[in-house]
Amino acid sequence: MTRPSMCLLAAAVATAACQSHEPQQAADPLAARADTVMAAAQVFDSTVFDTITWESPAKATERGSVVFTISCAKCHGSTGRGDGGFILNGDTLRPPSFLRKDWRFADDPIGLRRQIFTGNVAGMPYWGLVGLKYRDIDAVARFITEFLRTNYALEEPPAT
Ligand code: HEC
Repeated sequence: MTRPSMCLLAAAVATAACQSHEPQQAADPLAARADTVMAAAQVFDSTVFDTITWESPAKATERGSVVFTISCAKCHGSTGRGDGGFILNGDTLRPPSFLRKDWRFADDPIGLRRQIFTGNVAGMPYWGLVGLKYRDIDAVARFITEFLRTNYALEEPPAT
């Protein structure tokens, strides 16, 4: 058998195998499942962040701004207040605001990066497994702490 016909045969077998399987993709790829969140938590490696360097803090937040606008603002709102208005399975998501003075990640840079990487079952995507590199997670975490929290914190009503 010639090489090209073997390739065709292999492709036909692969296609048949694929057709006999259930679709792998969840109906809504953004709806995190507990097993996936756990899988992400297991591969998360906080030491990678020690190796990331930026030309300047401004370069990091500039990149973070792009990531935030594309991947986060639709749920978290353009300034991180949690007012993006994204509807998942019929419910409008209301993530906590990033701007509160007593925000739980205010002094926990690794915890913040871990949360972005792993997501959770309440609608937060597991970005570490679906498309954001450590460098982009670092950039967006910096954008939240060094730009959004610095520039918009005063607009937030006092914590109750
Ligand atoms: C599909 C909607 C959605 C998108 C897109 C999304 N998130 Fe979330 N995020 C959520 C929800 C919902 C929660 C709250 C989960 C909960 O109730 O615990 C959350 C929680 C978080 C938290 C924890 C906040 C806290 O105070 O506990 C962080 C940090 C976070 N998201 C960062 C991000 C970043 C950064 C991005 C973009 C890379 C992003 N999220 C994209 C829906 C989203």
